[in-house]
Amino acid sequence: MYNLLKGKKGIIFGALDPNSIAWKTAERVHEQGGEFVLTNAPIAMRMGTINELAKKTGSQIIPADATSIEDLENLVAKSMEILGGKIDFVLHSIGMSVNVRKGRHYTDQNYEWTQKGTDVSAMSFHKVMSVLYKKEAMNPWGSIVALSYMAAQRVFPDYNDMADNKAYLESIARSFGYFFGRDFKVRVNTISQSPTPTTAGTGVKGFDGFFAYADKMSPLGNATALECADYTISLFSDLTKKVTLQNLFHDGGFSNMGISNIVMDTFMEKDS
Ligand SMILES: NC(=O)c1ccc[n+]([C@@H]2O[C@H](COP(=O)([O-])OP(=O)(O)OC[C@H]3O[C@@H](n4cnc5c(N)ncnc54)[C@H](O)[C@@H]3O)[C@@H](O)[C@H]2O)c1
Repeated sequence: MYNLLKGKKGIIFGALDPNSIAWKTAERVHEQGGEFVLTNAPIAMRMGTINELAKKTGSQIIPADATSIEDLENLVAKSMEILGGKIDFVLHSIGMSVNVRKGRHYTDQNYEWTQKGTDVSAMSFHKVMSVLYKKEAMNPWGSIVALSYMAAQRVFPDYNDMADNKAYLESIARSFGYFFGRDFKVRVNTISQSPTPTTAGTGVKGFDGFFAYADKMSPLGNATALECADYTISLFSDLTKKVTLQNLFHDGGFSNMGISNIVMDTFMEKDS
């Protein structure tokens, strides 16, 4: 297509199956000439179909639990070996809440599960960046992106403790992004994506409801996983070199809407 990422090397976390946002992003990066290492938690390797993606994109896979510093150190060192140098782009596309999975209500958390979810969904982003920072593994004008959701700012009752995890994730992007920008000229951003039918997305209670609601509220409709992949590659490219410390809404306009006509119509008294 445009070779937007020709010569760039990266690490992509979180491709589980073809619905995953990370999967679509890996395909798009490949189409744009970028090279990368794929990684996911060892358990996800057994459940998912990541080998298929690796074959298709000519990539190697290095398993890593994103909550383990040891795994992350191994991942970054091996990736630099495989790719033959420092890293230009990283996608953190990881989320999981045990409370959501097991149907535990927000007002009645199992705090061990809460901690696990926070570690996987938010602190892992800090850990990834900390390992990259200490190893001086990023090239100047590199780009690090994590995926977020608007429940970080507004209330979505069934998003449960993932809302708090996303608020933490977005804050880490700003805080670590400062040091990465100052010391290595690397940018760090989060993309706040529309509800998207993936394994993580559809695991949230009431997903169909808030997917359809967001779609009807947004002037452009919900953004798909593929569209998210396109937005992400623009952030990996040299066309966005001075965009950093941002939470970027990729949601068809949903985040700035009050009400749309189509939603309003469903509340109107007949003929009024
Ligand atoms: N689907 C949506 O509606 C939606 C909306 C906004 C943001 N997001 C975010 O997008 C990101 C990607 O999710 P997705 O929707 O593509 O779903 P997905 O289920 O395909 O991806 C989630 C990934 O996280 C990985 N993961 C879980 N625990 C891990 C660990 N310990 N170490 C490494 N990886 C681990 C899983 O294996 C999986 O590949 C997540 O951060 C999610 O919160 C999703």
